[in-house]
Amino acid sequence: MDKIIVEGGQSLRGEVKISGAKNAALPILISSLLVDGSCTYSNVPDLKDIESTKKLLANLGVRVAMNNNAVKIDAAGLNNYEAPYELVRKMRASILVLGPLVARLKKARVSLPGGCSIGARPINLHLKGLAALGAKVDLVHGYVEASADTLRGAEIYFDTVTVTGTENLLMAAVLAEGITILRNSAREPEVVALADVLNKMGAKIEGIGTSVLKITGVDSLKPVAVSIIPDRIEAGTFMASAALTGGDIKIVDCEPTHLESVIHKLRLTGSDITIESNIIRVKGGDKISSIDIKTMPYPGFPTDMQAQFMVLMSVAKGFSVITETIFENRFIHVSELKRMGADIKISGNTAMITGVEKLMGAPVMATDLRASASLILAGLVASDTTEVNRVYHLDRGYEAIEKKFAALGAKIKRVKA
Ligand code: EPZ
Repeated sequence: MDKIIVEGGQSLRGEVKISGAKNAALPILISSLLVDGSCTYSNVPDLKDIESTKKLLANLGVRVAMNNNAVKIDAAGLNNYEAPYELVRKMRASILVLGPLVARLKKARVSLPGGCSIGARPINLHLKGLAALGAKVDLVHGYVEASADTLRGAEIYFDTVTVTGTENLLMAAVLAEGITILRNSAREPEVVALADVLNKMGAKIEGIGTSVLKITGVDSLKPVAVSIIPDRIEAGTFMASAALTGGDIKIVDCEPTHLESVIHKLRLTGSDITIESNIIRVKGGDKISSIDIKTMPYPGFPTDMQAQFMVLMSVAKGFSVITETIFENRFIHVSELKRMGADIKISGNTAMITGVEKLMGAPVMATDLRASASLILAGLVASDTTEVNRVYHLDRGYEAIEKKFAALGAKIKRVKA
């Protein structure tokens, strides 16, 4: 397995171009299953998860052609309704094929995704919503087996705000008969991006960007050509690196309106942030002030930025509290940061951090995608050398992260296993 070696102590300066958003690309590429024709997508990030999605779609009889950051998907030949365990276990977002398959083929057999390091991540709300639309849903030998002669519009309330749950039900409802109302829906930019693409395909979705989505079913959808929105979490990760290293970075090709909570919090830590159209410039302050963070569904502070902010608070002046309200086990990076000298105490879903003068370089282990990025950030400001192992987690969600950091002046390299 590859590892990434970081020498701490460099102030990062320059420009970094943000790639397309993984969590928008996954549902949007999968929404092609709803179309009897060929869709084209640009600004698709070159990531392991996109590769997995390509394999998943090809397995369903769909033609997928990728060329750099452009993808063409022709689902006219969709002839298989099964997503097998060996594909789903590599990428839990594969569960997003469930809604489109039932909508288009009237049946689906998708492996249950199982848990992951950050939590149990059940899909009960996905299944409850599908059943509400009239599908017969059973769990058989680790698979979801769903079928419906006709999906009929219904009123669905999500007990918990769920990003992929909202996306799955959106994709199921667009071809259902009648009107579906989704209440307590997720409002993440990636959900908005999917809804916008579905409407471009000819769907009738109202209330986009709010927590109440009204979908009027249509008979069919038509092919589209669209560009994937920028990745707000990649942008936030580089913003944090400027604050952390006292640097001066221009984050280009990003969408500042998707980052309001992160911009607000970063300013409170003492960073100077200026915004112009699709550029955010972050100048790190001469000291980092401690602040408290509580992760919430959008537009609250994103859970996918929690680990990155924990690194910032680890070397801030003072005491801070980070509360993780979305996932029950998203503090795995804490033990690795403590091995680098961070002073962090955990009590339930709350982390109490006392800033230290300096972190120490160390060999560390990546466990989930965003925790891996936080270990790279820690290495950027730690003394000496940090060796981040198991970087395949990183490659799932960050496009050439070490090259982008090196271009900003970081002393960082990938060592092939
Ligand atoms: C999406 O995961 C993202 N993944 C995650 O990003 C992100 O952290 C998460 O949303 C929260 O913003 C993709 O979009 C592919 P949820 P998702 O359903 O949809 C509970 C990354 O790093 N829940 O919004 O799986 C669940 O257990 C990844 O890119 C149920 O109880 O998250 C969690 O506590 C990590 N029942 C909460 O809701 C359900 O049926 C939010 O989960 C569904 C969810």
